[in-house]
Amino acid sequence: MSEPKRTIIGFVCERSLPLERMLGPDKALLDDPDTKVVIVPCSGMVKPTLMEAALTAGADATFVCGCAIGDCHYRTGNLMIRERLQGKRNPKLRKTTDRRKVGMFFVTMKDKSAFLEALAEFKASLDVKPLPEEE
Ligand code: FES
Repeated sequence: MSEPKRTIIGFVCERSLPLERMLGPDKALLDDPDTKVVIVPCSGMVKPTLMEAALTAGADATFVCGCAIGDCHYRTGNLMIRERLQGKRNPKLRKTTDRRKVGMFFVTMKDKSAFLEALAEFKASLDVKPLPEEE
């Protein structure tokens, strides 16, 4: 049985992964076509509301991928989005947002396989089964 088709939207720092070798013309990951990538200059420029908008628009899950902690070109962008998603800094995720559908990864250019493994784990953790219908 094949894995269910999902739509994952990832906001990925252009300096965190070798994206030019990882994306197809539709900005989907070559190794995971369910995942569409929005390239951003730094993960710190991603706001939780943007990730919530992806979910509202129909994505099954969303994630941000930034440079490894300590390696942000803008010094603290990755720390800021991490703290926002952890609820330690404003703006935070809304209380009603399903945290299971929001991921974050911090990697280096050399970590493509580690990123893909983490993404696969994140996808496997998603509960995409519909709730049973009430009778
Ligand atoms: Fe990559 Fe800031 S430059 S996370």
